[in-house]
Amino acid sequence: MNRFRMLFDKKKPAQEAIQVEATVTHEATMKLKGNTIEKMVVPEPGKTILQHAKDHEIDWQHMCKRGTCARCRCQVLEGAEFLEEPTEAEHKRLDPEEFDEGFRLGCQAVVKTSGIISARNKTYF
Ligand code: FES
Repeated sequence: MNRFRMLFDKKKPAQEAIQVEATVTHEATMKLKGNTIEKMVVPEPGKTILQHAKDHEIDWQHMCKRGTCARCRCQVLEGAEFLEEPTEAEHKRLDPEEFDEGFRLGCQAVVKTSGIISARNKTYF
């Protein structure tokens, strides 16, 4: 059975649901924090952080989706090693100091491999 389905299956005893939840937290997860919504989602290699946020209805700001507006800018707090290297668009749009502080563009930052990743949408305005 799908582990997430088990989490929300009301017919399962509460104790079993708790055990499943504990298992999920030890596996590869992405913690994404939008403007007001924060969720744990399963990372899918090949998808951007923004795609993950949109797929899971997290209120992640964005506009152009091509690396120019920076509305999707985010700070990766954990798991940067599980993301592809910054794109040319990110190098053009972000300052070197921002990279040092873990900032990426959500529409450009692609998940490379599964792992524990944490990011929050942090725009300039
Ligand atoms: S949506 Fe515009 S830079 Fe990402």
